[in-house]
Amino acid sequence: MSELSVNHLLGIKNLTYDDLQLIFEIADQFKEVINRPIKKVPSLRDITIANVFFENSTRTRLSFELAEKRLSADVINFSSSSSSVKKGETLLDTVNNILAMKVDMIVMRHPSPGAPHFLAKHIKANIVNAGDGTHEHPTQALLDTFSIRSKHTSFEGLKVAIIGDILHSRVAISNIFALKKLGAEVMVCGPNTLIPKFIHTLGVQVELDVMKALQWCDVANVLRIQLERQQIKYFPSTREYSLYYGINKAMLDSLDKEITIMHPGPINRGVELASDVADSDHSIILDQVENGVAIRMAVLYLLASVRSNQ
Ligand code: CP
Repeated sequence: MSELSVNHLLGIKNLTYDDLQLIFEIADQFKEVINRPIKKVPSLRDITIANVFFENSTRTRLSFELAEKRLSADVINFSSSSSSVKKGETLLDTVNNILAMKVDMIVMRHPSPGAPHFLAKHIKANIVNAGDGTHEHPTQALLDTFSIRSKHTSFEGLKVAIIGDILHSRVAISNIFALKKLGAEVMVCGPNTLIPKFIHTLGVQVELDVMKALQWCDVANVLRIQLERQQIKYFPSTREYSLYYGINKAMLDSLDKEITIMHPGPINRGVELASDVADSDHSIILDQVENGVAIRMAVLYLLASVRSNQ
């Protein structure tokens, strides 16, 4: 297979196993490219990409922009805080105005679940979802699984625990879809109030005790508490959350095996992860960031190939 089954990357849910493998194979090649002295290839020389961010971002936005520049695309950046959205313009009007400037692809982060799906129905450009509310963050799950693939020989039977605020996490949902498609076993762990009621329907185990989750897993993907999405209190205090769910080195040392620690960032040090874990040899957090550029290059390259074959 040399082409994706989709025109847009809206979520992992609608990707096939073959799509995931193809993205990984192309990302392997781009990872080699970005480790060369000359890190740029001309693959997207004729393509213009708009990065449209209606929510804050450090990693995703910089990683997409770097991926686009490494592929020689023309790049424009838009952030809602300094735009005419503040004057009442609709999402569709904003994007149509950007497209009128002959833009081929839109990378969009938006606080509303389904916003990129809505756009994909109304405009011709390829859409890449860079995170839509609490729904999906597909390139994060791709870079997470790509990073696991570099560290572990096979997904078949691999045990991955996703620990933290599952209720508000698009990273958790996209990771569950990707890991299940690849053959891994998935557990979610966190306070009962931060585990969505529907989670069993995704074929994952639920564990409320973080030590039991660590004893069970080969890989722990630790998530931050998303206070910015919480209108009510889901646990008494950050200090109490940290006491019951924070992971420190003593906990890892007490296990009878080595596990891999991941985090999508941004980390709240001392809350979900102690610094002696985040910065330890167990952690592949910065590998995830490095792999993000290669994965996003692969996604953009493959979507551009689908576009040129239409
Ligand atoms: N992991 C992630 O999405 O980070 P940013 O919010 O900084 O993009």
